[in-house]
Amino acid sequence: MRRIYSIGGGKGGSGKSFIAASLGILLAKHGKRVVLVDLDLGASNLHTLLGMQIPEKGLDSYVDKTASHLGDVALTTTVPNLYLISSTRCSLEIANLFYAQKLKIISAIKTLPFDYILLDLGPGTNFNTLDFFLIAREGFFVTTPEPTAIENTFIFMKSVYLRKLKLSLKEANLWHTYQEEIAKLSRGAFKSPLDLINILIARDPEKGRVFEELLSNLEFRLILNKFRGQVNENLGEQLVEVCNRHLYPSFSFLGNVSYDNRVYESVLARNIFINKYPYTKTVSNLQNMVRNLTGEQQESLRVKVQQ
Ligand SMILES: Nc1ncnc2c1ncn2[C@@H]1O[C@H](COP(=O)(O)OP(=O)(O)O)[C@@H](O)[C@H]1O
Ligand SMILES: [Mg+2]
Repeated sequence: MRRIYSIGGGKGGSGKSFIAASLGILLAKHGKRVVLVDLDLGASNLHTLLGMQIPEKGLDSYVDKTASHLGDVALTTTVPNLYLISSTRCSLEIANLFYAQKLKIISAIKTLPFDYILLDLGPGTNFNTLDFFLIAREGFFVTTPEPTAIENTFIFMKSVYLRKLKLSLKEANLWHTYQEEIAKLSRGAFKSPLDLINILIARDPEKGRVFEELLSNLEFRLILNKFRGQVNENLGEQLVEVCNRHLYPSFSFLGNVSYDNRVYESVLARNIFINKYPYTKTVSNLQNMVRNLTGEQQESLRVKVQQ
């Protein structure tokens, strides 16, 4: 079954692209067919983290119809089973996609012929970023332990929920009915998607439950990147608890990824960090995440229990 993960988080520099590339590489090493889609239009850099030169083709070839299928612009990488759909050649104009172009990209991504489709998003909370993030039912939020990054990630999480609700209401032709409430919430009073769900349920319990269900389908995971020894080991779990209590109970903690100076060195030298330094804490953290995602951890536990 095809799985799509979006990797976002609001703040630039928190390591979204590094995590996306690393998870993609490790999933490919587990024998999965994986494609990384660089959706940081206008500032894409996944190719650099994969040690590649500026690609010749990418998303732009699909948007300008040079390629008829999005899968045709997936490039091979030096890692077997791992492919990249780059957006380096997307000019700044394309960063402000037309609505129809965006829908075309979104529906093409959903049917890409791969086991795993990983979407690397840009910073900020503009509509394109939020809509790309919502392509996946499973979303990863990457933050560093710094308060500013955590704050931006919370803002991003709220924006994702608000956007999902708005799009779902529009789809159900209910946008006009609730426009006023949503506008009020969007003007700063929006603390939790549950506020809006409660309004919907109070007005029309049956429809309200449908929207509640839509939100419950989303599964979010938090990753704390650039983790250093002096940070509280339980910070991630604590943040997830806050998200589940105040936003929506859809969050789980995927783990810490240790800070390592050699990540920066590898990026500079266009080396793949995982290949160059496989026995580091950072790589071991990432490997644990991949085991968790592929369900291998449960498998080995089950074997142990059976023995
Ligand atoms: N775990 C880490 N340890 C050390 N440096 C990291 C780590 N993760 C990312 N970096 C550094 O942070 C920089 C920004 O990461 P990047 O993935 O490009 O962030 P984003 O995509 O969120 O803007 C990278 O160039 C890399 O040098
Ligand atoms: Mg990035």
